[in-house]
Amino acid sequence: MTTQPPLVGLAAALASQPPTRTVFAQFSLVEKVAFVTGGGRGIGLEVAAAFAEAGAIVYCLGPSKQPHNDFVTVQEFVARMPPLAENVKNGKMEYISGDVTDQKQMWKIAEDIVAREGRLDICFANAGILAGADCLEYSAEDFTKIINVNVNGVLYTAQAAGRQMEKLGIPGSIILNASMAGSICIRNQKWVAYTTSKSAIIQMARSMACELGSKGIRVNSVSPGYIYTKMTKAFLDSHPDLMEEWCLQNPLGRLGRTDESRGVCLWLASDASTFCTGSDIIVDGGHRAW
Ligand SMILES: NC(=O)c1ccc[n+]([C@@H]2O[C@H](COP(=O)([O-])OP(=O)(O)OC[C@H]3O[C@@H](n4cnc5c(N)ncnc54)[C@H](OP(=O)(O)O)[C@@H]3O)[C@@H](O)[C@H]2O)c1
Repeated sequence: MTTQPPLVGLAAALASQPPTRTVFAQFSLVEKVAFVTGGGRGIGLEVAAAFAEAGAIVYCLGPSKQPHNDFVTVQEFVARMPPLAENVKNGKMEYISGDVTDQKQMWKIAEDIVAREGRLDICFANAGILAGADCLEYSAEDFTKIINVNVNGVLYTAQAAGRQMEKLGIPGSIILNASMAGSICIRNQKWVAYTTSKSAIIQMARSMACELGSKGIRVNSVSPGYIYTKMTKAFLDSHPDLMEEWCLQNPLGRLGRTDESRGVCLWLASDASTFCTGSDIIVDGGHRAW
């Protein structure tokens, strides 16, 4: 028997229900289980912590055997959060070592999460790498390396989660981390492999959304603009003038912070976005408005 969701908004008012605030509860991830790749640092770690803060048990995957120090610090920070509410379990974060380019391993990891937690509701396929080279000289090896992590790895992650959601009949949410570089090119950068990979992610989300919609599973992509992380710092450190140039490329006149991915990912992961699928959500400080 399926339980009907509680009435909210107009429906609650027009059914003469006692007035209660439901809008924040729609963003709650209490009793949900999430899987985040590239969750050991940067945007992935930030979003994983937000999911845990909202009540989810979050499994964060990274390629190293042991998590980065940042992960351990954030994990402890989340563990010390005050209780969400009386008799409500707080969220938490766990680390898993794995490589997104290994399809069998990714499928098994999602199976193991379900064996442990009994469910999997949310997937943030976020792991990605960045490198550049002349488009006419890009070696097959270097091009394949980017595509393998950024495209194949995202597919294997989404498959791993989607297979479990389908098996358990969970109307889950799969979020693929693309980039504004999936729809536009980054001025003066030789990023043909990266832009190609991110473009593929946007179309992968649409395609999977169309196939999985009838099962109630939603798939969307997020396209951040320039966000200050280890990935972008590497470029900025080696090109001192680039920071100002990049800041001037959007109307807000600055790079984004990782915490500015929290809201959009929580919205997509939660019941606040139940009619959103097959979309690419742009969070770029207005970069493309110019
Ligand atoms: N920063 C930006 O401006 C920006 C803008 C748009 C989109 N994005 C996208 O956002 C995502 C996260 O980027 P970020 O800036 O947070 O970069 P980041 O700090 O370099 O994080 C990338 C994460 O992916 C992990 N990873 C790399 N290869 C992996 C593999 N084979 N298996 C498992 N994990 C792997 C890394 O692990 P290690 O730490 O162990 O290497 C790292 O934790 C990427 O997909 C990126 O393309 C970033």
